[in-house]
Amino acid sequence: MTDENLSSHLAELDLSPSPELAAEANGTEALYAEAEADPEAFWAKQARERLTWAKDFDQTLDWSEAPFAKWYVGGQLNAAYNCVDRHVEAGNGDRVALHFEGEGGDTRTVTYAQLKDDVCKAANALTELGVEKGDRVAIYLPMIPEAVATMLACARLGAPHSVIFGGFSAEALRTRINDAEAKVVVTADGQWRRGKAAPLKPAVDEALAGDATPVEKVLVVKRTESDVDWTEGRDVWWSDVVDRQSTEHTPEPMDSEHPLFILYTSGTTGKPKGIFHTTAGYLTQAAYTNSVVHDVHPETDVYWCTADIGWVTGHTYIVYGPLANGATQVLYEGTPDTPHQGRWWEIAQKYKVSILYTAPTAIRTFMKWGADIPAKYDLSSIRVLGSVGEPINPEAWLWYRKNIGNDTAPIVDTWWQTETGAIMISPLPGVTTLEPGSAQKPIPGISAEILDDDGKPLTDPEAVGYLVLTKPWPSMLRGIWGDPERYKETYWSRFGDKYYFAGDGAKYDDKGNIWLLGRVDDVMNVSGHRLSTAEIESALVSHPSVAEAAVVGATDETTGQAVVAFVILRGGAQDDGDATVQELRNHVAKEIGPIAKPRQIMVVPELPKTRSGKIMRRLLRDVAENREVGDVTTLADDSVMNLIQQGMGSGKED
Ligand code: WTA
Repeated sequence: MTDENLSSHLAELDLSPSPELAAEANGTEALYAEAEADPEAFWAKQARERLTWAKDFDQTLDWSEAPFAKWYVGGQLNAAYNCVDRHVEAGNGDRVALHFEGEGGDTRTVTYAQLKDDVCKAANALTELGVEKGDRVAIYLPMIPEAVATMLACARLGAPHSVIFGGFSAEALRTRINDAEAKVVVTADGQWRRGKAAPLKPAVDEALAGDATPVEKVLVVKRTESDVDWTEGRDVWWSDVVDRQSTEHTPEPMDSEHPLFILYTSGTTGKPKGIFHTTAGYLTQAAYTNSVVHDVHPETDVYWCTADIGWVTGHTYIVYGPLANGATQVLYEGTPDTPHQGRWWEIAQKYKVSILYTAPTAIRTFMKWGADIPAKYDLSSIRVLGSVGEPINPEAWLWYRKNIGNDTAPIVDTWWQTETGAIMISPLPGVTTLEPGSAQKPIPGISAEILDDDGKPLTDPEAVGYLVLTKPWPSMLRGIWGDPERYKETYWSRFGDKYYFAGDGAKYDDKGNIWLLGRVDDVMNVSGHRLSTAEIESALVSHPSVAEAAVVGATDETTGQAVVAFVILRGGAQDDGDATVQELRNHVAKEIGPIAKPRQIMVVPELPKTRSGKIMRRLLRDVAENREVGDVTTLADDSVMNLIQQGMGSGKED
């Protein structure tokens, strides 16, 4: 569709809520006014109504040591109890918690009663392995029910988990395990990827080799029956240790502010940040948003979030939100094109999925594969669609609604971050008249503004500025693990300590909708995954042939952005053309993980720098996106750009 056709098509659409949805959402709209009138009273009510407390809290918010927040002060609760036990106690033990679908077609149905048993067994096993309240547990697992059970077992013991995405390399694993000083690692022999067993445990072995490691035990799930090396005294099989445990385990109430988990995310420097979240505020907002934004009705809906549990979306919208709400969901281990490109729709049809939450990059991939693929399946059960991770372009939005959402399902475009813990900006189904491409407005309880460079609020349509959050919220990060200064500096200093600086550009349209415009810092968004330019640059310069490297995120039709690297080889290092490029791409995969592999690497004689020696990424981005190179007047040597452009077109992905 041309842009013109697209906008006239959009103008003709009626995107106001359907009467059925509006009737069902009865009362939700009133939340805006209620939250606005008294935000703390609003959040206190959400916490008390949605969670079960061992001890009620005395104070909703203590912001006296801003930006270090305390929510629900004096309260006590157990997150795992809230996610499983209480549903069983309420007589819903037979309700399905997880419809697990393995990549190879193996399935398991896990009810809430079974999940409770699994969580208790895992908690008993972790205790036997020496895990105590406050100890950290690293989790490096595929998308299997054991991953969910392990996270909840940690929560039950008050041992913060640090889940590391299964696509990260041994090196990335090592940094994260060491930073969190994890005592135990839970992993699997391998995971299924496109019909093949991909190893996991070998990366753990490598990450723990060498210098002293904080890890005492490695608990290994058998998933692919692959041969693995074994370190006696350290490694134990899940089947030997967990299976024989009792299904009884008394959950200990935790303080509201007890750390629940650490999750590493890319920042603007090479060192990933351990974002940490605590128990009560996080769980409150996870449950609340999953209920009002995804519109989950636990008795009737089948919900499916396609994220990996290694990312925050999997934490909040596979584990904590839906399980706290007692929802039934699909958990799928594999890739969308194995064994065929209709796999997701086959699964949606099989389980009668009613709510689907996924990322724009996936939608654009499905668009490329063609609408005839989902058309072969019965998707009539779908009634709400969600999008997360990056802005969704209106064309993808329309395709998604038409081909997956029966041309009627509302799409909730949800803006949030690892740091915010839960959804912050989004339309509400049944309430909001939708605007394709825009996340629209802060949900009830959340306040945002757009500021200009000087910190002045922008209100004019189309004026581009920085998104800030103007009030603390329950699921806000409580800090960066071990680095309170970096927390203050990164998030609470750009516009003073009253504004949370999100790092995203934004603008309003003439209807007052917020449009998110991507990162304003050196963080890239590749397929909805956050990657830092600095992290990839330092991976590249750790290769013996590389003297210097600069990385930019170039616009990519499918993945949103793609990694493009420019490298200067060391004197003496030979440029073997494709072989060099291939070797460097693999090196990045080894240092960080395959997701960070540059799409393109260009070997260049020089990098464009200002007179003060700063790399001008803006110019490199122009080159990477095949644009006319912008203003070069501040370049120390403007012939550099000619040299770089002459070398263009080489080093493309194979
Ligand atoms: C981007 C993922 C536009 C944004 C939950 C943010 C979005 C970063 C959207 C956080 C959206 C996420 N529209 N941009 N709906 N959702 N982003 O920490 O740049 O992996 O800052 O959390 O993704 O990525 P993270």
